[in-house]
Amino acid sequence: MKFPPGFKFGAATSAYQIEGAWNASDKGRNIWDSMIHKNPSIIEDGTSGDVTCDSYHLWREDVQIAHDLGLHFYRFSISWTRILPTGFPNKISKDGVRYYNKLIDELLKKGIEPIVTLYHFDLPLSIQNLGGWTNPLIVDWFADYARTVFLMYADRVKTWVTINEPMIICDFNYNVGNLVPQITEEFLGPFICNKNVLMAHAKAWRIYDENYKEKYQGKISIANNPIWLEAQTEKDEELSERAREFGVGRYSDPIYSKEGGWPPTIEKIMAEYSKKQGFPYSRLPSFTDEEKKLVQGTYDYFSLNHYTSRLVRSARADEDPGLWYISGSRELNLVLEKDPQWPKTDFVYIVIQPEGIRRQIAWLNKRYHNLSILITENGLGTRSSDNYDTGRIHYIRDHLKQILLAIKEDGANIVGYTVWSLMDNFEWMFGQSMKFGLYDVDFSHPLRRRTPRASAHFYRNVIKHHSLDVPHPSHHWDKYRKTYNNGVTIKYSNCFLVLLVLLEHIICKLLLN
Ligand code: NOJ
Repeated sequence: MKFPPGFKFGAATSAYQIEGAWNASDKGRNIWDSMIHKNPSIIEDGTSGDVTCDSYHLWREDVQIAHDLGLHFYRFSISWTRILPTGFPNKISKDGVRYYNKLIDELLKKGIEPIVTLYHFDLPLSIQNLGGWTNPLIVDWFADYARTVFLMYADRVKTWVTINEPMIICDFNYNVGNLVPQITEEFLGPFICNKNVLMAHAKAWRIYDENYKEKYQGKISIANNPIWLEAQTEKDEELSERAREFGVGRYSDPIYSKEGGWPPTIEKIMAEYSKKQGFPYSRLPSFTDEEKKLVQGTYDYFSLNHYTSRLVRSARADEDPGLWYISGSRELNLVLEKDPQWPKTDFVYIVIQPEGIRRQIAWLNKRYHNLSILITENGLGTRSSDNYDTGRIHYIRDHLKQILLAIKEDGANIVGYTVWSLMDNFEWMFGQSMKFGLYDVDFSHPLRRRTPRASAHFYRNVIKHHSLDVPHPSHHWDKYRKTYNNGVTIKYSNCFLVLLVLLEHIICKLLLN
């Protein structure tokens, strides 16, 4: 049950989900600020990221809880419009830059490695107004933003993620439209976006590679979030492989495969299907040779977000495969289902099949040959805020078991594991009603008090012993409950912070008047 020496443990968050301070200083508006302010009812519980965990002010608390957990690294993201208020490099925000400087320095002071994601769903509104991820010019706009961020922080940040979950940004968004910016366009949207995201990632990767890699010995990649797709019956095996190529290959082959470019099978299927639909060209835009070369090989490790699995079967004759959040259901005439044996969770997208992570890793290693894999997200969402969260403990423990098996039995090179999330936060369309935190956050408390759940104690023990062979926190829960749930004392530093925030409010009011 021991993890290999050097295996690292971390936890993750993202800017819009935790920072709050949506209009602090000269921060520009992003798509979430704008859409939620216009129509708050799009979020299940009517909350927003306006304040959320208030990490813009409470970053010291975040670093402290990361330290209390014994994390080796903390993965957070940078808000594009906090650094570049207009979305473009004509203006760099001094306050924005200062904020992340403080956070990075404090993490390093406490011996925690910062892992930084450049883009985690919070597109500048200005860029969305110009077509967002479907405008090919975004490739250069993203490169400008990346260049600015590297310039500021590359001396201290050694692990980077360019873009988080392109499959969500493109397929999920344009097929289901159930995330901001709520634009559905199933024909070209997912595929143009797919290509632009890869190109934007590649440009940022090359900027880092050419200017910083040798000097700082850092690494950089893109965070993919494959859902493990498993054949329902033996006769669905070939179809499942196509589905994996559609879902995972389309976002990974162009970067990781020896040949570069789209998975050839998918390129062919898309060309034929587009023709059948009357398009005079393939809906999957092609790469020029130059573009293929630009994207191919732009990785230093594989960043894997993994949560769940689905079964694949072919659609029956009378059945419309419908539109799913991974493109390809119509083109491949397939249906994705949840196995009734896999436990359901409060989070509708997640059913629990821990073996899926091991199988996914084996598939990636077979296709792309011995990757160095960093699991950049894995975790469980619950509606209950009960701090005795045994479900989360089991989810994390069972996935870690499979990761150990992948390492020890399959020879996978997995270098670390990240829990989503360090603390409860703004879970996109579910708002604050879906909780992923190792720490509970009291959103009604002015200081957004953070309280460790049982899962935090469990994870801390795993990290401390570098092993899964640790007691279940139920043994000690009474003690923990007393210490943390009833006996929480507000620290002096917190009181000082409240005073500062109040003072800031008063000064702002006076200035505005
Ligand atoms: C993946 C995303 O990266 C993150 O933002 C989200 O909160 C979690 N999954 C849970 O849905």
